[in-house]
Amino acid sequence: MMIFIVIVLAVHVLSSVFWAGSAFVLARLSGLGGERLVYPQAGAAAVAMLTGGYLWAALHDAGIGPAERVLLVGIAAALIAFAVQAFGGFAALVGLRRGQLGEEPARKRIAMVQRVAAGFLAITVICMAVARYV
Ligand code: HEM
Repeated sequence: MMIFIVIVLAVHVLSSVFWAGSAFVLARLSGLGGERLVYPQAGAAAVAMLTGGYLWAALHDAGIGPAERVLLVGIAAALIAFAVQAFGGFAALVGLRRGQLGEEPARKRIAMVQRVAAGFLAITVICMAVARYV
């Protein structure tokens, strides 16, 4: 059981690093390469949320203490980041693919979406990292 938790935690941290890291990079590069990164980013976000959900159920379902409160703030921030990326980022990509949006406006929109998401994901990383010490 312990080895399974360790593997899930490793997958969680790896997918989360890609999710947050790609958001920071896209925000910094003004959305450059967004059309290639958005789908892998969505995949990483899905894996991070599934593995995180499993870790919560396996390790933190006994009650809500200080650590769980901090984790919940981080989870809420991650879910907001995902919603922002899903609605804003996908809309820009679909607009670009259908020719309703030019490349430049689409990049600008992706960059803005990723900046907002990166802020929320920064809150998530901090909460996840400090939760066990509060
Ligand atoms: C909805 C999304 C998420 C859920 C439900 C979730 C849930 C969890 C839970 C329950 C743990 C605690 C595991 C334990 O007690 O050992 C954890 C650990 C961790 N999470 Fe998340 N998480 C999510 C998203 C993220 C994201 C987006 C990041 C990074 C940007 C992240 C980074 C981490 C890290 C680094 C740890 C390990 C902390 C440590 O053991 O010191 N998580 N996550």
